[in-house]
Amino acid sequence: MLRGKYDRARLGLKGLKQGHLLRIIILGDGQVGTQLAQDLLLTDHTTSLFGSPRSTKSKRLDLHDLSAIQRVVRLHRPQVIVNAAAFTDVSRAESEPYEAYRTNCLVIEHLSSFGIPLIHFSTDFVYSGSSDVPYKETDATEPISVYGRTKLLGDQALAKSGTPHINLRTSWVYGPTGNNFVRKILSLLETREEIFVVTDEVSAPTSVKSLSSIVLAILNQPDSFIAEHSGVYHACDKGFMSRYEMAKEIQDIAKDLGFAHKATRITGEGSSASSIRPKNSRLDTAKLESLLPGALVDAKVRLQNVLYDIFMLYHN
Ligand SMILES: NC(=O)c1ccc[n+]([C@@H]2O[C@H](COP(=O)([O-])OP(=O)(O)OC[C@H]3O[C@@H](n4cnc5c(N)ncnc54)[C@H](OP(=O)(O)O)[C@@H]3O)[C@@H](O)[C@H]2O)c1
Repeated sequence: MLRGKYDRARLGLKGLKQGHLLRIIILGDGQVGTQLAQDLLLTDHTTSLFGSPRSTKSKRLDLHDLSAIQRVVRLHRPQVIVNAAAFTDVSRAESEPYEAYRTNCLVIEHLSSFGIPLIHFSTDFVYSGSSDVPYKETDATEPISVYGRTKLLGDQALAKSGTPHINLRTSWVYGPTGNNFVRKILSLLETREEIFVVTDEVSAPTSVKSLSSIVLAILNQPDSFIAEHSGVYHACDKGFMSRYEMAKEIQDIAKDLGFAHKATRITGEGSSASSIRPKNSRLDTAKLESLLPGALVDAKVRLQNVLYDIFMLYHN
């Protein structure tokens, strides 16, 4: 049924060189790590995916156990490490700041000590969200949450380490699995007559498929690419929208695909009650677009792709 879904063109691999084979380890089997591992199966790279000690689907590796990471690195001799693991629960980070700091900063310090090229993910939460214009990589960071502060400390540790790295700073990540806004709205559309969604949080929803294809495009470059282009890159789908506009878009696509039968009314609420989420976290992606022309995809197209996958996964 899903055969042919992950073809090279859809992954953004068409036209890229093949035959440049790497040993890669992916840390974290959450939204991004799982999609990337799935997509790498279609390449000839050798990939190992590690989940947390709680994982039921991957090999387990507690990133807080530094000697366990060393053993994995010795055994697998990765040429690239992709770190998709993080403490991502924004609310819980407020009450468990040390746990967030350990995972989002201390782990990065350790990973970068190996000197192995590292692809890492940062977040729009490193910005305050008070700017009227999209943020550039050179703009001042000013996180307003524990999550944002710990992620920023991780970014700074990585930059200081001197290890070759590409740090993809992204926003509003969603995919066919996991805890994300798209799946939350789909579930509310099935059960509620009316839902209220804020209009004052604006950013770019970014699909795990897009992040995965950006990583694949990086892996397909010459060996020296990561070292030569080390740094932070804003990496988001193209097209800013508010949470309210995104919910409306999800409903429209779901209807077009023959789902969302209930006529749920989506009402825009002026102001988010959250004081720990940046309001304007639009990221300017020009730097990545010039590094990897054509790597970024329209946000609405990606929403369609992922909603289609969700319906194939859960409704067939
Ligand atoms: N989600 C977003 O909206 C968003 C937005 C911007 C940037 N990002 C960044 O994008 C990256 C990927 O995010 P995501 O949405 O894929 O996150 P996710 O779904 O929450 O996955 C994170 C993974 O890290 C694992 N992990 C946490 N602590 C660990 C530990 N001590 N040892 C081993 N594994 C551990 C988690 O395992 P358990 O689930 O078992 O704890 C989970 O598998 C992260 O760096 C995140 O900060 C995400």
